[in-house]
Amino acid sequence: MAPPRKIFVTTALPYANGTFHVGHIMEYIQADIWVRFQRMMGADVRFVGADDAHGAPIMIAAEKAGITPEQFVAGIAAGRKQYLHGFLIGFDNWHSTHSPENTEISQAIYKDLKAAGLIKSRTIEQFFDPAKGMFLPDRFIKGECPRCHAKDQYGDNCEACGAVYAPTELIEPYSALTGARPEMKSSEHFFFKLSDPRCVRFLEQWTQDGRLQPEVANKVREWFGQGEDGQVKLGDWDISRDAPYFGIEIPDAPGKYFYVWLDAPIGYLASLKNLLGKQGLDYAAYMAQPDLEQYHFIGKDIITFHTLFWPAMLKFSGRKAPDNVFVHGFLTVNNGEKMSKSRGTGLDPLKYLQLGMNPEWLRYYLAAKLSGRNEDIDFNAEDFMLRVNADLIGKYVNIASRAAGFISKRFDGRLGAVSADGEQLLGQLRAALPAVAQLYEQREFGKAVREIMQLADRVNEYVDANKPWELAKREGSGERLHDVCSACIEAFRILTVCLKPILPKLAADVACFLMTPPDNFDSAQTPLGAGAQIGDYKHLMQRVDMKQLEALFEPPASSAPEPAATAPASARPGGEPLALQITIDDFAKIDLRIARIVDCQRVEGATKLLRLTLDAGERDAAGAPRLRNVFSGIASAFEPDQLKGKLTVLVANLAPRKMKFGISEGMVLAASHADEKTHPGIHILEPGPGAQPGMRVR
Ligand code: 2FM
Ligand code: ZN
Repeated sequence: MAPPRKIFVTTALPYANGTFHVGHIMEYIQADIWVRFQRMMGADVRFVGADDAHGAPIMIAAEKAGITPEQFVAGIAAGRKQYLHGFLIGFDNWHSTHSPENTEISQAIYKDLKAAGLIKSRTIEQFFDPAKGMFLPDRFIKGECPRCHAKDQYGDNCEACGAVYAPTELIEPYSALTGARPEMKSSEHFFFKLSDPRCVRFLEQWTQDGRLQPEVANKVREWFGQGEDGQVKLGDWDISRDAPYFGIEIPDAPGKYFYVWLDAPIGYLASLKNLLGKQGLDYAAYMAQPDLEQYHFIGKDIITFHTLFWPAMLKFSGRKAPDNVFVHGFLTVNNGEKMSKSRGTGLDPLKYLQLGMNPEWLRYYLAAKLSGRNEDIDFNAEDFMLRVNADLIGKYVNIASRAAGFISKRFDGRLGAVSADGEQLLGQLRAALPAVAQLYEQREFGKAVREIMQLADRVNEYVDANKPWELAKREGSGERLHDVCSACIEAFRILTVCLKPILPKLAADVACFLMTPPDNFDSAQTPLGAGAQIGDYKHLMQRVDMKQLEALFEPPASSAPEPAATAPASARPGGEPLALQITIDDFAKIDLRIARIVDCQRVEGATKLLRLTLDAGERDAAGAPRLRNVFSGIASAFEPDQLKGKLTVLVANLAPRKMKFGISEGMVLAASHADEKTHPGIHILEPGPGAQPGMRVR
């Protein structure tokens, strides 16, 4: 047997000056699917990320916020987990470029490049803000466009007419930080000599030897050769910045820091080193493995850094260049504008989670759209709903729900023998596994999903042809029913393996339901077989509701409602003004559950209270219902018998309250007018049909 592949995988490191937008999440999901697939194939993978913490914009943002850059990036880092856990993105480590590991490796790489004769210094002239005492990055210089004369344009391009120019060409330039007129000032900068023939030769080879995606290799090819002036097009790269700068100091060069893009990709190695340290492994030994593969998932806007600077830095500092970079396009939302790095799009990933939308819906949808090519994809709300509801649930999840009930009710939860037609179907599914695996390997997730849905179609054709629901009613057809349902369960298991890199949580739930150890592409070749015991089927996935999508894309309320006292009558619905505005985070803290009122009694000595016994779907370790006791002040409106058996809504995470009559473990929701005298009546909330005890209300 071949030894397991050893793979080191990263995604691009996000700047630590903003929360994740859906473009980040798409990239992480893409990489996560690939990593999960590799692990299913037995590979030993390390998958890491980190915050890209350095640079002038972060330094300036921290200053504006009145905190240190360290505090600023720590605040951003603290918010990362909720997204990563929320979307089931299984990074093995999340680190920072502002870390001892990154300082050490960056300085070492720099020294090695210097020893190789690839660092030079040169004095350059740059705009300097005299009021601030710092050199200004292009984006902090503004002025009048030299071409169309639009005011307040950035130092490198005009948003009005699209002209591209040098900041020195701006008319009436000013510092965006202080408003001061910038002065030209000279300073010594360090350069990585990318124009050195060794680098050029290496990069032409590395980028054009067939490893890169063809469209990426073509793009990169334009950067080689000679320009009109006869010079090598590949210019030297300015890798230093002057203090004040939030970054890593350049050895033996006081007051000089590495430009953020020098130490950013080194952050990949820093995060890996940090991880290996936690695992008690030696970084140098790990990196020295000759068969270690290294891959970076990135967006198309940062190709230059990853196909020129980064491989050359590694190669000429005596390290191994990456095996490949996998480039993806941008994500647009609802045919909308291209995603902007700072603004993101209308799809807020945190809001998605907070609305209780299933992360695996998004994973599935994005997978269905992703390919191995560098091309843009669009998130379209209707398409999203259709693909999840009609394909994922309608075609795949339903297979289990159509068969499992019969197995548990009629056959004691045991699978039976599958006869020839069922075996033929299963044979087709098993035969397709290597092709599906191959598509995952090539990051052709959309093609994999299409293939899997076609397999699901075949299973559904088999179900429709055999109609288990009719077999169940027909005398003497028990054996055939067992046979057909067993084939369906086995088929469902194979399809689950196919979808497991995309739907890890669902696959784990299915393994529980089928009472199997975690499956992979190999194990799915062997059937569970006749006699295998499976568990009870529990609904595996809800459908997307259009209302959720509407809520997701609803623009945030712009201002809080009027304060109470002066509000006009129209602002007093139900006799009272609206409470102060809260955020979705505030609301998410309240855990509302559907509960059944299994019993209801008057409380002796209390005229207003009823004692409710509620089943909110909770079970104890032995599986017995755990019922709650709740006192509710609704006795004036209900006879106990009116409420028994009804479903209502329970505030399930309210701290228990000790009352004279016992402990109240929650609260049920009821509506009433503020003025009970003029508008008597209390109305308990009842869910629509289909709601079950334990379901969360959001
Ligand atoms: O473009 C960006 O968002 C950068 N922060 C990406 C850095 S990738 C790597 F080099 F760290
Ligand atoms: Zn212009």
